Amino acid sequence: MAGRALVLIGFMGSGKSSVGRLVSERLSVPRFDTDELVSAQMRLSISEIFSRFGEEHFRDAESEALAALSGTEASVIVTGGGIVLRPANVERCKTLGTIAFLTADEETIFRRVSRRSSRPLLQTENPRTTLSELFQQREPLYRALADFEIDTTSLDHSAVADALMAHLSPVTS
Ligand code: S3P
Repeated sequence: MAGRALVLIGFMGSGKSSVGRLVSERLSVPRFDTDELVSAQMRLSISEIFSRFGEEHFRDAESEALAALSGTEASVIVTGGGIVLRPANVERCKTLGTIAFLTADEETIFRRVSRRSSRPLLQTENPRTTLSELFQQREPLYRALADFEIDTTSLDHSAVADALMAHLSPVTS
């Protein structure tokens, strides 16, 4: 049986966390966020995990957090932007339920992520170039995994949540 979760994927700054919160409230279903699960498990912020243990360690913990989730019950699952980097995560996501890709144009993403300096992957000499490279690398991966996508470029979180709700029969039925 197909999973009953709504899984949000997409680049950092695509609004997954905020929209995931809204949709889980509106549907009265639990929300699981892989970043929050990893952070709680290790009792460290994501930035601290990257700086103390490195990206691979974070990726291992992220994969474990995802593998521990189940699509048996209706829920909203928010994933970190790098979840698509490992094929095992991609396969896992497919078992969990309906997969929504939240996207936005690159400039908009850059503007949104620049408001906060908490993204370890963008702590480089030229964050704009880094973002562009990551964006090009990942966009096809998100697209290949998603059941549908929503362009959030000119939408606020509430409007994105509305658009998502319109696709949700597997979660709500
Ligand atoms: C990452 C995105 C972050 C977090 C970590 C790595 C990525 O999550 O998992 O900093 O590789 O894109 P958000 O997508 O919620 O920002």
